[in-house]
Amino acid sequence: MTEAILLVGGRGTRLRPLTVHTPKPMVPAAGVPFLTHQLTRARAAGVEHIVLATSYLAEVFEPYFGDGSALGLRLEYVTEQEPLGTGGAIRNVASRLHSGPDDPVLVFNGDILTGLDIRALVSTHESTGADVSLHLTKVADPRAYGLVPTDATGRVTAFLEKPQTPEEIVTDQINAGAYVFRRSVIDTIPAGSPVSVERETFPDLLAAGAHLQGMVDSTYWLDLGTPAAFVRGSADLVLGRAPSPAVPGRCGDRLILPTASVAPDAKLTGGTVVGEGASVGEGARIFGSTLLSGAIVEPGAVITDSLIGVRSRIGERSVLTGAVVGDGAVVGADNELRDGVRVWCDATIPAGAVRFSSDQ
Ligand code: GDD
Ligand code: MG
Repeated sequence: MTEAILLVGGRGTRLRPLTVHTPKPMVPAAGVPFLTHQLTRARAAGVEHIVLATSYLAEVFEPYFGDGSALGLRLEYVTEQEPLGTGGAIRNVASRLHSGPDDPVLVFNGDILTGLDIRALVSTHESTGADVSLHLTKVADPRAYGLVPTDATGRVTAFLEKPQTPEEIVTDQINAGAYVFRRSVIDTIPAGSPVSVERETFPDLLAAGAHLQGMVDSTYWLDLGTPAAFVRGSADLVLGRAPSPAVPGRCGDRLILPTASVAPDAKLTGGTVVGEGASVGEGARIFGSTLLSGAIVEPGAVITDSLIGVRSRIGERSVLTGAVVGDGAVVGADNELRDGVRVWCDATIPAGAVRFSSDQ
């Protein structure tokens, strides 16, 4: 059975302050740490052995997932003292793999929510005899990703990570962050120093004439690397637009965890999640947002497309749209916070302190 490597060592910089206390894959989406969705999807595709390549806040993964048996998996953890980059991380866990030299090994970025048919990617890899096979997806603006043009047979012709100039934007097909490596190819990555699989390994393999195969599809795909994307992904899991066996409850307009409390006249829609021990006061309206555990939303607050951190508090009548509120922060009553604002962990915004519109 195919085994997998999950890359979960990144610092999650673009998600700060959500990643101040929690590594990106452990931030809850639809009520469970995001990584749970990837692990259960891999398990459903028949993967049993997964090695987690950790670095940033590495110590929190194992206490939560343990040996993986609760998910029917065998999990192992390998921690980089200094981050080794994506390629270095893959190479660094090679000794834990049981696969033979020609066997396929799955590799996943740890922040991708997708409906990828994992078995189909492995089949494509085996039927084409590729050295590495890559899941590709098409996006409207490819600049934040790895561009992967292919020929008529799907064979990869170049790999251009985060293009800087307009001339480099040669395709709208991007690296979707799931690969199948022939095991022996992993062993050729230099060990012990940082290597980027995107900037070094893939271009070097292409230059050496290796066969990189692309599999492009149009299934659900989202990189949860930014606050807006994370909130979108969590809501899409709740709404059932993004498939996962790990959503704790039935899919629908909202997910209220058993220990949460919600006032009867509060209105929760658009895939809103109310986390463990969180509470929502009378008349509050929450659309497409995620409230992490212990968050408090006071009466009359209106929250849209926002992420509300652990044990933070949103005051009465405050209006938040596209906001991120860090763990333990307090937004006083009658504030108006808009797109892109990031309230830092434990910060306090006094009542009536911030507005984007006139108060009268
Ligand atoms: N163990 C380990 N060590 N993991 C790492 C390291 C490291 O030094 N650096 C990054 N990672 C992990 C991250 O935790 C994440 O799961 C994954 O590698 C990718 O890193 P991101 O920081 O999320 O990269 P990106 O989103 O900018 O770009 C990558 O993903 C795109 C698709 O979402 C690239 O692979 C692009 O080519 C791709 O298009
Ligand atoms: Mg990413």
